[in-house]
Amino acid sequence: MKKYLLLIAGMLCLIAAHAQNSIRSVYSPDKSVKIVVGLTPKTGEPFYTAWFGGKPVSNGKLGLKGKDADFSQGFSWKQTRTAGSDQTWKPVWGEVASIRDRYKELTMYLENAAGKMNIRFRAYNDGVGFRYEFPDQPLKELAVTDEVTQFTMTADHTAWWIPGDWDSNEHVYTTSKISAIDGTPYNTATTPIATQHIVQMKAVQTPVTMRSANGTHISIAEAGLVDFSALHLETDTKELTFKANLIPSAIPDVKSVNKIPFNTPWRAILLSKDAAGILNSKLILNLNEPCKIKGDLSWIKPQKYVGIWWEMHINKSTWDYAGSQDASSFQGALQPTGKHGATTENTKKYIDFAAKHGFDGVLVEGWNTGWENWFGKWKDEVFNFTKPYPDYNIDELARYAKEKGVKIIMHHETSAAVPSYERQMNDAYAYMNKHGMNSVKTGYVGRIIPRGEWHDGQWMVNHYVRVAERTAQYKIMLDAHEPVRPSGLHRTWPNWLACEAARGQEFNAWSAGNPPEHETILPFTRLLGGPMDYTPGIFQIHVNQFDPNKKEQVHTTVAKQLALYVTLYSPLQMAADLPENYEKRLDVFQFIKDVPVDWSDTWVLGASIGDYLTIARRQKGTQNWFIGSITDENARDVSIKLNFLQAGKTYEATIYEDGPGADWEKNPYPVNIRKIKVRKGQTIPLKLAAGGGCAISLTTK
Ligand code: NOJ
Ligand code: CA
Repeated sequence: MKKYLLLIAGMLCLIAAHAQNSIRSVYSPDKSVKIVVGLTPKTGEPFYTAWFGGKPVSNGKLGLKGKDADFSQGFSWKQTRTAGSDQTWKPVWGEVASIRDRYKELTMYLENAAGKMNIRFRAYNDGVGFRYEFPDQPLKELAVTDEVTQFTMTADHTAWWIPGDWDSNEHVYTTSKISAIDGTPYNTATTPIATQHIVQMKAVQTPVTMRSANGTHISIAEAGLVDFSALHLETDTKELTFKANLIPSAIPDVKSVNKIPFNTPWRAILLSKDAAGILNSKLILNLNEPCKIKGDLSWIKPQKYVGIWWEMHINKSTWDYAGSQDASSFQGALQPTGKHGATTENTKKYIDFAAKHGFDGVLVEGWNTGWENWFGKWKDEVFNFTKPYPDYNIDELARYAKEKGVKIIMHHETSAAVPSYERQMNDAYAYMNKHGMNSVKTGYVGRIIPRGEWHDGQWMVNHYVRVAERTAQYKIMLDAHEPVRPSGLHRTWPNWLACEAARGQEFNAWSAGNPPEHETILPFTRLLGGPMDYTPGIFQIHVNQFDPNKKEQVHTTVAKQLALYVTLYSPLQMAADLPENYEKRLDVFQFIKDVPVDWSDTWVLGASIGDYLTIARRQKGTQNWFIGSITDENARDVSIKLNFLQAGKTYEATIYEDGPGADWEKNPYPVNIRKIKVRKGQTIPLKLAAGGGCAISLTTK
């Protein structure tokens, strides 16, 4: 009894300590990051300030507004709990073999007239995470109408951003001051994204990454996006404030509907004294839930693949059986013209090529019915995921692929008719199992059905996660194109190898393309949330090989295409060009054959967002290292210090560099290949051409 009374007295103290105007703080384990939290004295609004290296970096109000329940003000602060954790976990695949998850935590327990809400903060050495938690209470559901979370910056930093498009993330990045953020030009661009929906001119997508005048790097991101709409940010260009901007649903004003109890996804602020630190941060992964796939995980394998894909993008062949490439108005009978790409014969050629050169998979697009008339129509029931075209003998190809030790990668273009896909999912995955296929590339080109929903809204967020769960049940690996950008869920669903969710290589085939700086920005923005299926490896830079009317060229040198396999991390990498183009340059192709897709260790050797990036990675289970170095439109001298090599060993370095006169625009083809012997501590000086790069493999016995 006495003990019980003491406990009550202790609790009262705790409560008393939280008078309305009190503040509390929590420091990261190394004290470099501090989060100060409190409630405004009169209005009871929660707020925070994040500090880094002794200086404030971000602050603002916190809370959510619901349809009939306001969780943004009038709070009393009932209790505070602190905790900490220091654990190391091993990702199934990744940039490093093990990850330390170490933080200090502080949770505010708040209550107002609407009910109870807790805000959990985590201070890591490399940033801040926080989320809203709704414990079990009389209120059973919250229809979220707004999130009030603010991130007010302390100065007008340089920001790398894409517009807050509700339906697409396939945009070129803009570099500007926060005060100059304005998405208007994206709506007047000569080649807009087919489905883009930009209605808030000062909204940007997360992650948005910034650099302050003193070199501090800040990225506002999201982790563990499940059962909520995606976090975009509305910019107040005068106050330098980013405010949470949740993507709406089909119901006017409602952003997300959640059953209580629930937790929102994490809001994250990555903090670093330099650009490299942003890449080294594992904060987003650490904020995600551990792997939810039970039992044996050996079926999940990082992989390299080739495919019947680029040849459609450069008009060698067509997706549709009618061979018209007319995806939106074709009405005639299905008369093959001989241009269909996904034929049994052509697939066998790719399987042979993959087997000969050690690739795991062959992607085949255009294998199933529906491609004659699907694009831009917002039509339901377009594609059938168990019905091949007559010239695609799937049984024979399943047999042939097995004999050659290669996996055919399934393609499910849903045209964003999502309920139709959901109805077919079980049959489609069973069909894949039956034909020995263990990876699927999904696609969501077009406006979403259910009509009124958006690619980045809660309904679709739940769909993408359902697909990850369902494919896992069928032991299938997933690569999603046109989804919401990733938020680290590959920790929870490691079968979800990659997403597109950004402007990929394909844009170089048929649009104004990707500027040479594009790949020097992606790792610091979109890629922070997870791997991308960028599809590097184009050797035939001018894309008029089969269609003389095509004027586009890939904005790169050939050597840079090799470097991307290292600088753009993904456990799923395509060698995107045609087999015949690789056959012409087998010496250069050797790097793509050699480069691994799973790593023990990663060193960022040089990084400046939008300018250049040099990364070295150690192949999992070996002492071999691979280096990629890329530059924007400017030529650059780079010197690579080999401090990461094992002492006492000699390595053979094979260097694939921009050859004499190389230039992304005028002369993209020259690649010089040389071999040298190196040891730890030595330096390799390199010259990167304008828009160029260099790839190096370092092997030792
Ligand atoms: C867009 C995807 O990004 C691309 O890879 C695919 O080939 C087409 N959609 C067709 O599904
Ligand atoms: Ca795409």
